[in-house]
Amino acid sequence: MANDSRDVLSRIDADKETYLEELKDYIRIPSISTDPAYKADVLRAAAFLEGKMREAGLATEQIQTKGHPLVYGEWLGAPGKPTVLFYGHYDVQPADPLELWRNPPFEPTVEGDLLVARGATDDKGQSYTHLKAVAAMLAERGSLPINVKFLVEGEEEAGGEAIDRYVREDGGKRLACDAVMISDTSLYAPGQPSLIYGLKGLCYMEIKVTGPNRDLHSGTFGGAVFNPLNALSEIISKLRDGKTGKILIPGFYDDVRPLEDWERKEFAALPFDEAAYRSELGVPELFGEEGYSTRERTWARPTCDVNGIFGGYMGKGAKTVLPSWGGAKVSMRLVPDQEPKKIAKLFGDYVQSVAPPGVKVEVESLHGADPVVVEVQGPIVDAALDAMQDVWGARPVRIREGGSIPIVSTFASVLGVPVLLLGFGLNDDGLHSPNEKFNISHFFNGIRSVVRLLDRLGNL
Ligand code: BES
Ligand code: ZN
Repeated sequence: MANDSRDVLSRIDADKETYLEELKDYIRIPSISTDPAYKADVLRAAAFLEGKMREAGLATEQIQTKGHPLVYGEWLGAPGKPTVLFYGHYDVQPADPLELWRNPPFEPTVEGDLLVARGATDDKGQSYTHLKAVAAMLAERGSLPINVKFLVEGEEEAGGEAIDRYVREDGGKRLACDAVMISDTSLYAPGQPSLIYGLKGLCYMEIKVTGPNRDLHSGTFGGAVFNPLNALSEIISKLRDGKTGKILIPGFYDDVRPLEDWERKEFAALPFDEAAYRSELGVPELFGEEGYSTRERTWARPTCDVNGIFGGYMGKGAKTVLPSWGGAKVSMRLVPDQEPKKIAKLFGDYVQSVAPPGVKVEVESLHGADPVVVEVQGPIVDAALDAMQDVWGARPVRIREGGSIPIVSTFASVLGVPVLLLGFGLNDDGLHSPNEKFNISHFFNGIRSVVRLLDRLGNL
């Protein structure tokens, strides 16, 4: 191989400490996008990232939106060579429940090979690999083998509306590229990288049930009115068949694209230790839609889950009360070709149709994301798979995932180029959970993978 990247890889080894300290500084900023109380921190994270892009030698801009700013950077000094657009998100999920963290969530702590903190993997640690790879190459060689663009958003965890509007308005002018690379997913297993070709979409709803105009004595008034929490339970119990796992909303499955035979075969051929999976989750039995394997259910079949239920007396001891209201948050993970808006309407109509008399039921749609399956073929994809193999010692397997990254379907349709979902996380990283972590060795292997990708694309 003409170029084995050795020069840049040695520089990375020499600068490891600095890279890790920078990542820790980035993680210390609690950029929680879903909570308005953290707005200033979200802006600080954007400024931090833009500063690091500029230091690396990129031309940068903070693009203002109705929501949080987009951080843009580019280096276009290799005319005639391919262009890769790197996407990531600088926002993070809330850290609660705080009492379950071993250390404060925004004080990154090293525990052996693990860096523990909110955002360590999702997505600060993962997406920072893109920038450090480019920074190392520019520092070592003064130039890059290909052109790069960065577009990093600050509201992925809140639905990603601003970036969606921006990408659609741009229409592929400023964002023109030959491939998009995203690192916001995991390896299939330790030592086994994966190329994700499908993500689920999302339709997130909130139900509010209102009964009497105040909490009532459950003796005096019990038997006279429909208790809103009983009503809510009835509604929830009608969303899904508890035996078959089928969702009971009429029309819900109409647009579901069936799994292809080759997918079922490939999924079935992947190693999967069901007993280990069960015991890791601490459940006596797995459950899901009848007729499908766990992989098929989690990656390629739609689901409907209650995320939270609230209302009534929740303090210690007993309080004999009929609550005046109750509520629930319900999310549905969608697969191609379901549309979040259409599903939200079906959900709302169905909930009203099964609501018992005597209560008022309101249904609100909180946010959504389109499901996506991307085309992953061609020389750039092959170069990316080779680059991963160079570093991880195994060729990525093609799989789908149950999570959502809202902008992916927009990238695919507006830019019309391959979207490479090549993540460096592990399934036990604890995304959205207490003690989220990123393996430090994966952080550096991520940086190395991007260096190899750029050098391989430069040789195409
Ligand atoms: N990094 C995740 C997406 C992900 C998780 C992909 C696991 C593959 C496997 C991302 O940051 C995320 O959590 N997205 C949200 C989006 C939603 C709020 C629209 C999600 O999936 O809940
Ligand atoms: Zn993420």
